[in-house]
Amino acid sequence: MKVRLFILYVVLVSAGNIAIARQVSSRPTKFAMDDGWLFHKGEIPFPVIKGHGESYQAAKAGIAPGAAAINFDDSNWRRLSVPHDWAMENLVDSTENIAQGYRKRGIGWYRKHFRLEPGDKGKHLELQFEGIATHATIWINGQVVYRSWSAYNASYIDMTAIARYGDDLNTIAVRVDAEAMEGWWYEGAGIYRHTWLIKRSPLHIVTDGVFAQPVKLKDGTWHIPAQVTVYNSLKQDETIQLEMTLLDRQNKTIATALTKLTAQMLEKKTAMLSLKIHQPRLWSIEDPVLYQVKTVLKQNGHILDEVTTTCGFRTIRFDARSGFFLNDKHVKIKGVCNHIDHAGVGTAVPDALWDFRFEKIKEMGANAFRSSHNAPSKRVLDICDSLGILVMDENRNFNSSPEYLSQLEWMVRRDRNHPSVILWSVFNEEPVQGTPTGYEMVRRMVKQVKQLDTTRPVTAAMNGGFFEPVNVSQAVDVMGFNYEIKHYDRFHAENPNIPVTSSEDASAVMIRGEYTTDRSKNLLDSYDTQSPPWGATHRQSWKLINERPWMAGSFMWTGFDYHGEPTPYTWPSVNSSFGILDLCGFPKAAFYIKQAQWIDDRPILHLIPHWNWPKDSIGKPIKVMVISNADKVRLTLNGKLIGEKPSNTYTMAEWMVPYAPGKLEAIGYQKGKEVSHFAVETTGAPVRLNLKTYKPVLLNDGQDATPVTVEAFDSQGRHVPTANVPVNFTINTSGTIIGLGNGNPNSHEAEKGAKQSLFNGLAQVILQSVKNADGPVILTAESEGLKSASLKIDLKSAGSLPFIPMAEPMQAVDKWSLSPASPTKPDPNIILSDNDMNSWQSYTAGTLQKMVNGNFTILRASFIPFDRQKSEGGQLAFKQVWGKAEFWLDGNLLVRKSSDEPQNITVDFPPGSQKHVISILFNVQPGKVFGLGGIVSIHKKQ
Ligand code: GAL
Repeated sequence: MKVRLFILYVVLVSAGNIAIARQVSSRPTKFAMDDGWLFHKGEIPFPVIKGHGESYQAAKAGIAPGAAAINFDDSNWRRLSVPHDWAMENLVDSTENIAQGYRKRGIGWYRKHFRLEPGDKGKHLELQFEGIATHATIWINGQVVYRSWSAYNASYIDMTAIARYGDDLNTIAVRVDAEAMEGWWYEGAGIYRHTWLIKRSPLHIVTDGVFAQPVKLKDGTWHIPAQVTVYNSLKQDETIQLEMTLLDRQNKTIATALTKLTAQMLEKKTAMLSLKIHQPRLWSIEDPVLYQVKTVLKQNGHILDEVTTTCGFRTIRFDARSGFFLNDKHVKIKGVCNHIDHAGVGTAVPDALWDFRFEKIKEMGANAFRSSHNAPSKRVLDICDSLGILVMDENRNFNSSPEYLSQLEWMVRRDRNHPSVILWSVFNEEPVQGTPTGYEMVRRMVKQVKQLDTTRPVTAAMNGGFFEPVNVSQAVDVMGFNYEIKHYDRFHAENPNIPVTSSEDASAVMIRGEYTTDRSKNLLDSYDTQSPPWGATHRQSWKLINERPWMAGSFMWTGFDYHGEPTPYTWPSVNSSFGILDLCGFPKAAFYIKQAQWIDDRPILHLIPHWNWPKDSIGKPIKVMVISNADKVRLTLNGKLIGEKPSNTYTMAEWMVPYAPGKLEAIGYQKGKEVSHFAVETTGAPVRLNLKTYKPVLLNDGQDATPVTVEAFDSQGRHVPTANVPVNFTINTSGTIIGLGNGNPNSHEAEKGAKQSLFNGLAQVILQSVKNADGPVILTAESEGLKSASLKIDLKSAGSLPFIPMAEPMQAVDKWSLSPASPTKPDPNIILSDNDMNSWQSYTAGTLQKMVNGNFTILRASFIPFDRQKSEGGQLAFKQVWGKAEFWLDGNLLVRKSSDEPQNITVDFPPGSQKHVISILFNVQPGKVFGLGGIVSIHKKQ
């Protein structure tokens, strides 16, 4: 049938549109998006497109196909909250990648539907993902909006132009490719950091747009040469004012600054302000005093945006001859390198667990943290600021091309207000480090950093190439040595003006609670005897660093064990053994060695091994190591003197002691005076379990979490270090078990679920509160033959934290085409040729039109019902249809609307998986309004 063309002149009027206020005087608001995601593990291939019409459509904004489409059936997907790491849900598998902890990663999809209120119209809307592992493609409302090429960088997405309001839901789809790898360690899979929606005024301060880092002037006073970047998404240039206030801990105003500027429409503009401060309290390791900088954007007295950042007053200096200085005071860097995963939760580490991890890092005497080999989460830097921990902030991908420079730029912009950050690291161990190529790349990356921050030096973690005629050490401010201890002195002698730090050292390996190295069983002893050929023991490496004043300090590999990289072993070992703490954060002997080496203001004393050896060991020599910072130690067994020895932290004191059950005691002496005492005792068999929580109270926000230690006690209430019993857990509805572990790198037990065995006396359960639960959380642990244990954790109300709830998945029909108007009644089922893109116009439900040049027009759409309606049949629900109309489904007239006034209409369709075509034939007088005033959705039959 030939289609007759009529000239149609339509006037678009918006249905229910609220005029956009010229200035929205709303405060910026940050809404958590973490709840209510739908998840599908595995790939969902995009449909293969063959037809012309479909090809044309698929190339258009907002019409992404497959699981990226707005109308994709996700109603049966699993519901979950992020942070989420799906690789941790997979068991270890010897055929998978050793580096990734022998866990399958693969592809996954996430979707979330959410509603924005009509009152949100006119606001600037930014969706934020803090981290997705590893590559991700993000669509909003059927339109691709972002491609994320690094798991460790955030994605900030301005969605203002394509946002939908009211009943018209917004749909986010994220395809995550975790086949991609950026490292040789366990990287997790999925949306493993927080997600947010930021609603701001169209005139606002951009994300990470305030740089307010205090600088000390020559005369001893301080100033903050601040930069504030604003954006104006209004339709004209605007004059605005910026006010900046420095506040102390008591919220007292210390200094203020003001400036005025014109913000050009759709442009970013950076304004400079300067705050002067006379005698601020300094930020230091011992007393990490923080100040707040409040930046307010105003127009004609109205506050349009407000951002609070944190800062600390401190100076840093790396000296080529005498190392690192904080506030002009020499500080030897005692640092640990760390990856980002933890037992049970993988990379989806709840914020509260980071508090626990850093408490352990502080407890071991460390004063520094290297975020290896990637930028950490924001939470990590906030904790380091507040605990006084120095940070080497490291970039992931070594590449000086534009995409990768922008990854580096993101890191520096986000992190440059943190007083804890003292070094930017642009790479870790790159093969081109000793070549002109490496040098040229680093030069460009250093420039990128310096354009954003001149207050901190740049380093690179080199493991070779430093004696080449052209090498990277010539392009950085501080040379970073990974291992290569043998070259320390030569490098310093040849380059006396280049400041040097160890960026990585030791890589000593041990397994918590093991006291023999047995290569046939993948075991490693705890006596600090084992390190790979490139590394050194804890005692060796600290000596070599500590004795060199020009060496700024140490960054030990690693603070915590991590999944993957089980060096020196392979399968069945699945996790690393480099940690000073195991995968759960339980201390190994190395922890006490580091305490002895790094803590000098109090006595440290510990001894290994445990004293629970089998009967047939009686009389046989057992190696005993007394770990202490005392200058002399004395050892007794059951009150009898074993011996006395001078001790130092580079050697410690060791004995071979013939085993006899009982009490092994050590006493530490300093200058002849007894300063410390420690004992291990032979215990009885385990008789009961014990549970110990890190946090006694949790917020009921569905995010707060705590590790719980599981152990076994003997009849006298003593911890049994050799208990290896399986334990089953139950929890009430106020909490969930989000992960379990026991620190054994050779364990293949699931880290999800409700079971875990004690390993050398310990296991860990990580609990999370359930949102809005009344509490308390009750965890029970049971093991056959032992008395069970129960633990109560109170819940505290979290108040109403702003969040965007999930909207239920809904199928909508929103892509329509509108025929030209005709004076005579056309055939409502007229067929349009597949290559005709132009005779009919596209039409979006929710917009009304005026009839011009005719009385009749056809609106048409097609749909394939979602699974549930395929089997049950369903109903099309039209909200507010204007004008007289006939509703035709698949060629049959089903409903007639005889009034011009708006009405809600429903049209039933039968079960079946075929594509349905719905045509609405309007018959309206010229000049009258007609169309679909609201959304068209598909439901089950009422
Ligand atoms: C280094 C590397 C680390 C880790 C370590 C193990 O070469 O930078 O990521 O692999 O070796 O010793």
